[in-house]
Amino acid sequence: MGKLDGKVALVTGSGRGIGRAIAFKLASEGAKLVVNDLDSRPGDAVAREITAAGSEAVAVNGSVCEDGFGERFVAAATETFGGIDIIINNAGYTWDATMRNTSDDQFQAMLDVHLVAPFRILRAAAEPIRALAKKEEQDGREVFRKVVNISSIAGLYGNAGQSSYSAAKSSLVGLTRTLCKEWGHYKVNVNCVAFGLIHTRLTEPIKDEQKTIDVGGREIKVGIRPHLLDTFDELIPLGRGGTPEEAADAVYLFCSPESNYISGQVVVCGGGLMI
Ligand SMILES: NC(=O)c1ccc[n+]([C@@H]2O[C@H](COP(=O)([O-])OP(=O)(O)OC[C@H]3O[C@@H](n4cnc5c(N)ncnc54)[C@H](O)[C@@H]3O)[C@@H](O)[C@H]2O)c1
Repeated sequence: MGKLDGKVALVTGSGRGIGRAIAFKLASEGAKLVVNDLDSRPGDAVAREITAAGSEAVAVNGSVCEDGFGERFVAAATETFGGIDIIINNAGYTWDATMRNTSDDQFQAMLDVHLVAPFRILRAAAEPIRALAKKEEQDGREVFRKVVNISSIAGLYGNAGQSSYSAAKSSLVGLTRTLCKEWGHYKVNVNCVAFGLIHTRLTEPIKDEQKTIDVGGREIKVGIRPHLLDTFDELIPLGRGGTPEEAADAVYLFCSPESNYISGQVVVCGGGLMI
């Protein structure tokens, strides 16, 4: 018996990194997964691996920023699995620059992926959730649904070189708190997990060559200089960055029945880091 048996969970950006670990964690607790990634190969692979492990999963790949993505994503959950219980807005990347070097496109791209896309997905889920909640109320059943929005310590405390990213991640906290108030009567717990340093491709050490990732055909610089990673390890009370699995565990807390009376909160998953 898993704690999420029969629940239908949607996780954006779940082809790699933290999202991938979240998808596996929720599936291991019995949830049926709607996986997504900008890159269809990792997205499909995660859905296949979850299915091979005995759970159910379907992949709805493509950019969360595409017009109509939210409707397509939500429809996959209701049509394939007949419901919608957990939504994790995780997809994203960093595109850093100092303020004077940040272009309009860059600023907008960060808002689009980290703020506008979660808003559109949640808006698309609003009517199905309202209808399900109304039916459950009529039947006298209390069913809790979960939204977890993925933020960052950069969104809470700021980070030099990340004006666009931190503005978007900070606004996501505002969206979370507002939706907590709007959807409380539908029994939806809406919370945020803000990560500190989690070891994924975004935070890999830059050794000799600058690391880049391809995001929809755009080459984006990622990675952290090794001396800065060492400084992080010194600053983090628990002494190191987190793994994607540890990050997924924090998200799982807000998906489990134990969080049924917690909403509108931000938990920092950063090994104690508070800067
Ligand atoms: N790694 C960290 O230290 C850290 C810290 C704070 C917050 N975060 C946040 O955690 C989330 C996951 O990051 P990660 O470190 O696992 O990165 P990652 O690059 O390992 O994984 C992110 C996944 O999201 C996908 N993605 C990116 N843009 C997308 C789009 N438009 N549509 C669909 N999928 C898209 C990527 O293809 C990738 O597979 C992000 O929102 C990130 O901002 C990460």
